[in-house]
Amino acid sequence: MQRDVSPIDNHITFTGAGEGQWRITSIASIAGETMPSSTHLKVGLKNVSENAHGAAFVLNGRTSNIRYTTRAELGDLQQKQSPLGRTGARSAALIPIKKSAQWWAMAQDERRAIFEEQSRHTSTGMDYLPQIARKLLHCRDLDEPFDFLTWFEFNPEHSHDFDRLLDRLRQTEEWKYVEREVDLRLTIA
Ligand code: HEM
Repeated sequence: MQRDVSPIDNHITFTGAGEGQWRITSIASIAGETMPSSTHLKVGLKNVSENAHGAAFVLNGRTSNIRYTTRAELGDLQQKQSPLGRTGARSAALIPIKKSAQWWAMAQDERRAIFEEQSRHTSTGMDYLPQIARKLLHCRDLDEPFDFLTWFEFNPEHSHDFDRLLDRLRQTEEWKYVEREVDLRLTIA
């Protein structure tokens, strides 16, 4: 995230461009179509984002209310999680995700059961806090190509931990409903 973005600002634009505060080190398709390559990523508020003319890609997302987290889980997360923008967190990942029509056709309780009771998304993720800082942005209702933009920041020495977390999550029942996923890795420019 842009280091001067306030936590109350909720509509974020990610722009793939020739310059920006993050340098893109890799773009890999995990499922479905990949994204255009670009050297840098700009992260900013939508209303102040610079002219996207000539950008390789522009992705928008906004923060939203929680869907699946219980009160007890929320308490645990708040106690353990770390903020974005930490000094040593010079590595980042932007992972846009789209889930299938089958996922969205289910009821909330069915999705929660797959997300946590079967796949242990939150409890697995908790193993990687506070080293990995995260931000979840929603874009399913914004007429965007993805449903979610997930953002992570960590000290480069925790890259392997982050990869291990991804391995674990990608083997779960929840990930059977992921139809498009692109994994962008970044380092502070
Ligand atoms: C760093 C540790 C992680 C923790 C603690 C964590 C925790 C959570 C929690 C609590 C939610 C539910 C929010 C709600 O109630 O609506 C969530 C949603 C989500 N997370 Fe994670 N997560 C982590 C890592 C990841 C990673 C690495 C990815 C992507 C590769 C990811 C992708 C998502 C997505 C796409 C959702 C939205 C799911 C949906 O609404 O269908 N998370 N995460």
